[in-house]
Amino acid sequence: MAFAPNVQEMVRSNPLQVPETFLVSRKEEDEPKSTADAFDLSSKIPILDLSLLSSGHKEELNKLDQACKEWGFFQVVNHGVATELLQEMKDATAKFFELPLEEKNKIRMSGGREGYGQAYAISEGQTMDWSDTLILSLYPAQSRDLKFWPTAPNGFRETIEAYSSEVKRIGEELIRSLSIIMELEKDALLGLHKEVLQALRVNYTPPCSMPDKVLALSPHSDTTTVTILMQEDNVTGLQIRKEGKWVPVKPIPNALVVNVGDALEIWSNGKYKSIEHRAVPNESRLRISYASFLFPHTDAEVGPFDHMVESSRKYKKLKFGDYMAKAIKGKLDGKAHTEMAKIGS
Ligand code: OGA
Ligand code: NI
Repeated sequence: MAFAPNVQEMVRSNPLQVPETFLVSRKEEDEPKSTADAFDLSSKIPILDLSLLSSGHKEELNKLDQACKEWGFFQVVNHGVATELLQEMKDATAKFFELPLEEKNKIRMSGGREGYGQAYAISEGQTMDWSDTLILSLYPAQSRDLKFWPTAPNGFRETIEAYSSEVKRIGEELIRSLSIIMELEKDALLGLHKEVLQALRVNYTPPCSMPDKVLALSPHSDTTTVTILMQEDNVTGLQIRKEGKWVPVKPIPNALVVNVGDALEIWSNGKYKSIEHRAVPNESRLRISYASFLFPHTDAEVGPFDHMVESSRKYKKLKFGDYMAKAIKGKLDGKAHTEMAKIGS
């Protein structure tokens, strides 16, 4: 969008300048009453072992059930992705963003959702997020639109492909585990997706001289089944809303952060929570984060499972494509999407 400034260039030309369009009036109730509390909660975010989950370990599956119910967020270790591949993805991405703007603009977003640019820049006058993004569709493989794929640095395309294929494997393993804890056949939930769609969103968040006055990513929940996020090992930026506080998700080196998305919340009739989250910039350090979104196919029907409806059915059954179409029309806006799917809305 023409009116949306490129954040990286803006910071390069003047690191101290924070244009008004980025300033957020953060409501007091949005802010943690006590940072100590939030940090305390932060250390309780569940950590799950993927290899145990995938081998059907009962106790670990119980932990997954608890994590989805109480947190909607957890970190995954023992996921089997080579540390070298994670590092390669980070190195190549950093090199891509260091390219001159003209080079990156060869794959800039043009009306659609893919490419390099400023996502969620929808209307002039809205508050802008302090980040630039690169968005690519990965799976099914025929959904890839190579005109949006970076051609530099050398080997970046192959690295994106290798990383994303590992994320796909992890996603499918997780969805099988979710199927089990939802008391379905192991492959039933995957089957209901018809075909899992996967997209990558890289968020590039330059340092900000007024980190408390802007947001790198506005509060939102993800429209996915699950989202799998790789973050920087040593810069905290992601925060989740828990007990009225914004709780930071502190990076564990080489772990991946997973969150429950709206589709899973709806299938589970609200038992599992698609939690609101946001990202904040750091005052002195660049942060790059890599969100992989796993969605049901647009033709898939998503509605609460009968056996998970305890007293009342909270959500309508809908075609996932219709849900997405409505959800992506607006700017990131808290839990507006799932509200819209609720019965009576
Ligand atoms: C997202 C997201 C978190 C982060 O892209 O949907 O929530 O830390 N990202 O970048
Ligand atoms: Ni998100």
